[in-house]
Amino acid sequence: MSLPFADRTVLVTGGGTGIGRAAALAFARQGAAAVLITGRRKERLDETAAGHPAIVPVPADVTTQEGSEAAAAAVRARGGRLDVLVHNAGIFRFTPLGDLDAGTAREVLETNVVGPLLLTGRLLPLLRSPGGSIVVVSSRGGHNPGPNSSVYSASKAAVHSFTRSWAAELSDRGIRVNAVAPGFVRTEAYEANGLSREEAEGLFAGVAGTVPLGRVAEPEEIAPWITMLASAEHALVTGQIVTVDGGLDIATT
Ligand SMILES: NC(=O)c1ccc[n+]([C@@H]2O[C@H](COP(=O)([O-])OP(=O)(O)OC[C@H]3O[C@@H](n4cnc5c(N)ncnc54)[C@H](OP(=O)(O)O)[C@@H]3O)[C@@H](O)[C@H]2O)c1
Repeated sequence: MSLPFADRTVLVTGGGTGIGRAAALAFARQGAAAVLITGRRKERLDETAAGHPAIVPVPADVTTQEGSEAAAAAVRARGGRLDVLVHNAGIFRFTPLGDLDAGTAREVLETNVVGPLLLTGRLLPLLRSPGGSIVVVSSRGGHNPGPNSSVYSASKAAVHSFTRSWAAELSDRGIRVNAVAPGFVRTEAYEANGLSREEAEGLFAGVAGTVPLGRVAEPEEIAPWITMLASAEHALVTGQIVTVDGGLDIATT
């Protein structure tokens, strides 16, 4: 039996850590011929790729034209056809309203919104048509925003919106577009936001008590939803946002 991504070329942004790393490894395990992973820190990309010949580090910043061009050049170097594009790179910033500044707002919006818009535009001519697939890693904050995260939640609401716009716009080319909206996932995102490891674990322990299924997710529990939505086995699924949050949405709406 052939593996679902045999002969396929996949690109995962933010593949050096967290959910992006877990997704890149899952695509490689499922037979992808090449899994291009982007991010700014080459050493983290190299860690993901270690021992996995199909995984190819491509240092690139998603917020820049140069980053999009580096990603396109890497696809062209592998035959010029991209089968799956995963927009996973993203940042969270803790932003109580009184502390919000323009630099923080721009950083979040440029990474989470402008980055995927730029990269999709640049890679669209290379995306398999028909049969290509785009998966965006959004957040439940995009449809269920909480306090102290207004810019992040707004950025993910935009992600929800462009997921559906692209699905409508690209359907006549046979390209599907879907999103995964995680709740809390144990990744470095919280440390990147200034928490120590111990503080992050304390936050997860507190949050777990509010999650109906009783715990935060591991990155490896989000990755299967990314590969599933990307798989050609689900050729009629497009414009969908799949929430993977242990039931937190039910508890808070
Ligand atoms: N963890 C959660 O609880 C949670 C919940 C809901 C949604 N999410 C979403 O899940 C996605 C992945 O986050 P994560 O939790 O796995 O956190 P993470 O481990 O911090 O991963 C984020 C990745 O994005 C990359 N990145 C950030 N800015 C970038 C830029 N300008 N250019 C290229 N790459 C960039 C980072 O690499 P470099 O720093 O090396 O560039 C990093 O590898 C994000 O979109 C996040 O919003 C996470």
